Amino acid sequence: MFNYLVTFSPTGGTARTAEILASALADNWIRTDLLKPIPETALTAEDVCLIAVPSYGGRIPTTSAERLNCIHANGARAVLLCVYGNRAYEDTLSELQDVLQARGFRCIAAVAAIAEHSIIREFGAGRPDADDCAELQAFAEKIRTRLAVPMDTPLCLPGEHGAYKPYRNTPFVPAETDACMHCGICAQACPTGAIGEMPETADPERCIKCMRCAAVCPSGARKLDGKTYAALRERLAAACSTRKANELFL
Ligand SMILES: Cc1cc2nc3c(=O)[nH]c(=O)nc-3n(C[C@H](O)[C@H](O)[C@H](O)COP(=O)(O)O)c2cc1C
Repeated sequence: MFNYLVTFSPTGGTARTAEILASALADNWIRTDLLKPIPETALTAEDVCLIAVPSYGGRIPTTSAERLNCIHANGARAVLLCVYGNRAYEDTLSELQDVLQARGFRCIAAVAAIAEHSIIREFGAGRPDADDCAELQAFAEKIRTRLAVPMDTPLCLPGEHGAYKPYRNTPFVPAETDACMHCGICAQACPTGAIGEMPETADPERCIKCMRCAAVCPSGARKLDGKTYAALRERLAAACSTRKANELFL
């Protein structure tokens, strides 16, 4: 039996949350990073995977779904983790479950957890915090108990199956400013290859607005323009203002 930790985490919040859960679940994990294309991988029914994605507009990021298609689960068990920015995750877990079941996984548990919002960072700021950490560790204990029981019962998750919330790709692209040193770090880090040799040539169609380019830029040169940021902040403020709770589904 192997334990696999599979993450898609452009700005690190999903990976941080997944690591808290993973380290409370088992000592050793083989890591797979979906920020880059992955090779075809075959698992066995004895394997256990923790699969973690962020919520984008209440859905799973399209790039993560495409890359998960390279995994042939052959009955491996999956623990699903959706990480969101304190607004809502809507169909993220149900869509992730559908994608994984189509790959041959048996989905046995799921967690929805909150991390800092990667676009408007004041929402969910500082999360996962110490309280989240303790709660995720308690969830891990219950998941371990569940993993020890051989019987498979269907996992019922919130959200629509199949008829997902339509995803509207946000019409902004983080842009370079005068502080850009043309170091190429953003282009190398972009999970969809949307940024070419010249940062100003970023392809708005390939860009999934994941904010990784802004997060990795050493000079803070890539960012949303002030007007777009203010409009998004205002649109999200009411929905993001109260602290949301982490949830466990078994
Ligand atoms: C394009 C995009 C869409 C997002 N949509 C939502 C959303 O619908 N609900 C929410 O609560 N957070 C949303 N977020 C925030 C992320 O889910 C959250 O910050 C997550 O922790 C980001 O993961 P990462 O740090 O691993 O990149 C969105 C972020 C991005 C970049």
